[in-house]
Amino acid sequence: EAALKTSIKNRCFYFNEINSTNGFLLEHVKDLSSGDICVAEYQSAGRGRRGRQWVSPYGCHLYTSFYWQFSQGMAQAMGLSLVVGCSLVTVLRSLGVEGIGVKWPNDIYLNHKKLAGILIEMSGQADSVCDLVIGIGINLSMSPAQADKIDQPWSDLSELAQLPDKTELMIALQQQLVTDLELFQRQGLKAFQSRWREADLFDGEPIKLLMGEHSVEGICCGIDEQGAILLKTEEGTKSFVGGEISMRPA
Ligand code: BTN
Repeated sequence: EAALKTSIKNRCFYFNEINSTNGFLLEHVKDLSSGDICVAEYQSAGRGRRGRQWVSPYGCHLYTSFYWQFSQGMAQAMGLSLVVGCSLVTVLRSLGVEGIGVKWPNDIYLNHKKLAGILIEMSGQADSVCDLVIGIGINLSMSPAQADKIDQPWSDLSELAQLPDKTELMIALQQQLVTDLELFQRQGLKAFQSRWREADLFDGEPIKLLMGEHSVEGICCGIDEQGAILLKTEEGTKSFVGGEISMRPA
């Protein structure tokens, strides 16, 4: 009964083809309630982070977006992508995907290659009611033609004995996101600090943070309550906020 209640409270807008599932939800925020989702088989103008394109061939992968409203503005949503990363790892692990984890701040890796990406976009007032759209792209089964065009190491779920059913994956993800975002709204990022460490592929590993011309090396040891990455260095534990930092193994 609980599952039924959750699934009928929200709507799923399903498209065979659309420009971008994120775009669709952003254009319709007025008509949405928190937890509504949009899914498409194909995106003609899939969006990635930093203005990049997210190539979205027909039927191969999961392209989904999730709507959530924060009544107290952007500040309340700080660190949201880390929460979404935890949700994704929880769902994929529950489906038996091993070797999966997060890479600070935004990526989901399988066997140290990118499996999924998260793109959060907002509309409305940054300091009052703020509408957020969380876009998630998961590589299910990469075609050779697409694989040739990708310029970074990637992975997909085709090695699994059985590919997860897309609908099941989507429902599981929607329910996990509702649970996690409610928790995040009540308690903030501190409710996710230990889950993040369990999900972090680099936890306890030596890593290097690159910030323009500077870099710092240390042992990766979690996130603080603002979502900054924590690094154990020779001068003690230091925190580094996101933005233009990229991270790699040292
Ligand atoms: C990244 O660059 O890593 C983020 C990629 C996010 C892609 C997803 S696919 C569904 C949703 N709709 C979009 O246009 N982008 C996101």
